[in-house]
Parts: sequence; structure tokens; C-alpha cells
Amino acid sequence: SERSFVMIKPDGVSRQLVGKIISRFEERGYKLVAVKSLTPSEALAKEHYSDLSARPFYPGLVKYITSGTPVVAMVWEGKDVIKQGRRIVGATNPQDADPGSVRGQYAVSVGRNLIHASDAFDSATKEIGLWFAPEELSDYEPIAWPWVMADN
Ligand code: GTP
Ligand code: MG
Repeated sequence: SERSFVMIKPDGVSRQLVGKIISRFEERGYKLVAVKSLTPSEALAKEHYSDLSARPFYPGLVKYITSGTPVVAMVWEGKDVIKQGRRIVGATNPQDADPGSVRGQYAVSVGRNLIHASDAFDSATKEIGLWFAPEELSDYEPIAWPWVMADN
């Protein structure tokens, strides 16, 4: 199994969608490895989105993430959780997102799209290391784990 970094953005917290969003990952059977609420520093937000630093929306994106309303940063673990987490989240532009996804159900604007999820193994590794110290990541086995993870 693998781990993904998932973050509920300030609009998700302000709109009080934290429980509903967490439930989607929990109910799918993924394991919550770490969770915390914080207002990220500008340096952290810039580093998190450093791949997009040349894009015209980058300053606004950093401002949005560091608005002062906190984000909920999480690490989820499970089979194929990086790709499946992206499916739970939905397309970047909520107008293109499947209505069953978080963005497709709750968001209408690309600049306020509620949630982030890592897009690949390398970015997941980078992001988990950026947002969490190793001792903040828990190792345990959920009671349903053998049922969720069985392959046969
Ligand atoms: P994240 O999970 O947040 O990384 O989104 P993503 O992987 O679906 O998209 P991407 O990494 O390309 O863009 C990161 C974030 O930048 C998006 O989630 C949006 O919040 C924002 N963004 C991307 N494209 C646009 C755009 O055209 N306009 C605006 N205003 N914001 C954008
Ligand atoms: Mg991205």
C-alpha cells in the first residue's frame, strides 16, 4: 500500500465540510495516518505549490491557502490511494469534476476547489515530508484492514 497527502483548503474548513470530506476517505477503507489543522506559512504554501510558481494564478493561490482560515492537512494510506484519492477529489476545475466527487458535489470555481490530493508517488513523498515530521505519522492496523485489503 501507499500514502497520499490530502489537504482540505480554507474554503472547505470555512464551509464546515471537514467531516463529510474525511468520511469519504474513511468509508472507502483508507487509513488515517496523520491529521492536523493549521494556517500554513507563506513559505510552506509556496514550497507546496512550487511547481506552479510561473503560473499567473500562483500569487492568488498562495494567498488563498494562507488566508488565515486554517487548512486540514492529512496523510491517508491504502491500496492505490494516490490515484483513487484523486478520483475522490475530482477534476481540478469543479465544472469538469464528476458530480460524485468532492469538487463536483461541493465546488463551482477552480480558484476555490476545496481540497488537494497528491498527484503521483514522488509528489506524495515530497508533500508528506513538507507538511509532517516523521514522528507525526502513525503506524497501526485498523480493525477492518484485512477485509479492506484482501486481494482474493
Ligand atoms: P491540487 O490538488 O490543489 O494540487 O489541484 P490539482 O492537482 O487538481 O491542480 P494543479 O496542481 O494543477 O493546481 C493546483 C491548484 O491551483 C488547483 O487546485 C487550483 O486551486 C489552482 N488552480 C489551478 N489552475 C487554476 C486556474 O486556472 N485559475 C485559478 N484561479 N486557480 C487555479
Ligand atoms: Mg496538484
